[in-house]
Amino acid sequence: MRETFPVTINGATRQIARGTTVAVAMLLAEQPCRLSVSGEPRGALCGMGICFECRAVVNGIPHRRTCQILCEQDMTVETNR
Ligand code: FES
Repeated sequence: MRETFPVTINGATRQIARGTTVAVAMLLAEQPCRLSVSGEPRGALCGMGICFECRAVVNGIPHRRTCQILCEQDMTVETNR
């Protein structure tokens, strides 16, 4: 059985499996990584650190590329607005 730990995504705490990227955790939580300038929800596109579509606020730091970050215990993630 995979180890899981709590991660808070836009205020809701979910159990996330070790080895999961933040981008995938946000997808599982059905939350956008960021909002475009016109307010449209955006999420991971390339999945390899090139497109910057997956930017979100991770532990209070905005514009982190979530496809390049593994979830950690008690991490807080918010949609980049
Ligand atoms: S999905 Fe393209 S940089 Fe993260």
